[in-house]
Amino acid sequence: MIEVQHLTKRYGNFLAVDNISFTAKSGEVVGLLGPNGAGKTSTMRMLTGFMPPTEGSAKIAGFDVQQDSIEVRKRVGYLPERVPIYPDMTVNDYVLFWARVRGVKNPKQQTAHVLTTVNLYDRRSTLVRNLSKGMRQRLGLAQALVHQPEVVILDEPTIGIDPQQVIEVRDSVRQLGQSHTVLFSTHILSEAEQVCDRVIIINKGKIIAQGAPDTLRKQLQKGDHLYAQISGANAAAASKLLGTISGVEGVSPQGEGYAIRVKPGKEVRGEVAQKVIEGGYRLLELRPVAMTLEDMFLDLVTKEQDS
Ligand SMILES: Nc1ncnc2c1ncn2[C@@H]1O[C@H](COP(=O)(O)OP(=O)(O)O)[C@@H](O)[C@H]1O
Ligand SMILES: [Mg+2]
Repeated sequence: MIEVQHLTKRYGNFLAVDNISFTAKSGEVVGLLGPNGAGKTSTMRMLTGFMPPTEGSAKIAGFDVQQDSIEVRKRVGYLPERVPIYPDMTVNDYVLFWARVRGVKNPKQQTAHVLTTVNLYDRRSTLVRNLSKGMRQRLGLAQALVHQPEVVILDEPTIGIDPQQVIEVRDSVRQLGQSHTVLFSTHILSEAEQVCDRVIIINKGKIIAQGAPDTLRKQLQKGDHLYAQISGANAAAASKLLGTISGVEGVSPQGEGYAIRVKPGKEVRGEVAQKVIEGGYRLLELRPVAMTLEDMFLDLVTKEQDS
């Protein structure tokens, strides 16, 4: 369980995390989604006790990250943005080192177990310096899981690794979510959608939307869109012609035709076709345009940036 209340971080005068509150339950994968500089890493560093909040508080498994930081560290596994590398250690020694630092009961056994989980057991004698980027990421994951934490916090775990390994890491995150509380950050919307039960969108330190991917999509999607290509009509004429249809909320030029914004759930295609013909124009194309969550995310983030 993660409970975050009014968490705020300032670097000097710069407000990097601005009064955010959210919770993540056991068995839940929560995605922190936002563009570079949104405040994802700063949030995670506060949650893992690496950096004190300027204001607000957070609890991990019921323990306050500032007051009970030792208890928190026992219960949280953290894969930082840049995993500290000990190039001359073997894979096994690296994980064993962290197992001992964290007081794991059967460190050797637990190291072997976690290396198997992340699919690195066969590489246990390899020097860290000789691992690929993807393997290093998995080693970082092993380090984060070796003390069997309840809460796992992963900072952009798929950045800079090849597509096959991206799939593997995403699978691991989903699996982890079955028995842990997982908070994981990404700047890739489709990844958040695939992996998370709930997505929190942050931009410039603020939460700007949150919910299950499906709910979020409905919330962000202000209506449906149609694309129409009409021969013979200029923008003003098309706007006038289609603007009178009940359910049409706006008409704007797009490519060689027009984007028609429609009230959610309204079916206006028949009427659009009829009006065009009646107006003496020709309808060359008429189709629904699916707005992806990606479009909506960009739309949202760009709007925030403009304001
Ligand atoms: N130690 C720091 N000192 C000053 N500014 C920082 C520091 N760390 C991060 N920032 C700034 O805070 C903002 C949020 O950064 P960060 O939390 O790393 O965002 P994200 O992980 O979403 O990319 C950025 O504008 C970044 O430049
Ligand atoms: Mg970051």
